Amino acid sequence: MSINLAFMASGRGSNLAAILESIKTGDLDAKAVIVITNDVKAKALEVARTYGVEAKAFNQDSISRDEHEKLILDELAQHKIDFVVLAGYMRILSPTFLRAFKDERGFYRVVNIHPSLLPSFAGKQAYEDAFAYGVKLSGITVHLVDELVDHGPILAQEAFVRLDDDTIETFKARGLAVEHKLYPQVLQMLSAGKIQISSNRQKELTEI
Ligand code: GRF
Repeated sequence: MSINLAFMASGRGSNLAAILESIKTGDLDAKAVIVITNDVKAKALEVARTYGVEAKAFNQDSISRDEHEKLILDELAQHKIDFVVLAGYMRILSPTFLRAFKDERGFYRVVNIHPSLLPSFAGKQAYEDAFAYGVKLSGITVHLVDELVDHGPILAQEAFVRLDDDTIETFKARGLAVEHKLYPQVLQMLSAGKIQISSNRQKELTEI
């Protein structure tokens, strides 16, 4: 079964590029329906257009978060979307936004990638925080988004080592290579219906 994906990004869009490339090669059975950014200067817009995907920027300056989200929701409502894929979207989504994508089990059809082994090192500086802490092993998490930040049912995690002579740059580069492999793989598992959310996690979620 193919799935329709909408993307939200704020920056360079390297994960977006990796996913769009996987769709192009046929490794990921999905259709990219739209790419949305909150910054007209986001490189992700160029990435989308390179792959022939419709791309729109929604400027967030001088409007409230609610107004901004409403504009994005109105755009997304124009499309048939199975999952919203966050690819470096650097703004927290409100419960109202997320609830527009609630599935029949109560999960939100919104996926995120985070560059640490959650629940360790949530937040915007995960690579820097993990590196500064001195971890010997770090990793990447792909998860469903819930109403808490960098939280929600984990779909997949992959670890990578920190080498003794790593700098923050080499550490990040090793992690980013894992991101670019893992994110398309997880989306393909969703497309193939191969990911189940464990009942334990489901129970935990209802208790939040
Ligand atoms: C990635 O490190 C991702 O894990 C995090 O934001 C960064 C986005 O990078 N959520 P890019 O825009 O995909 O290159």
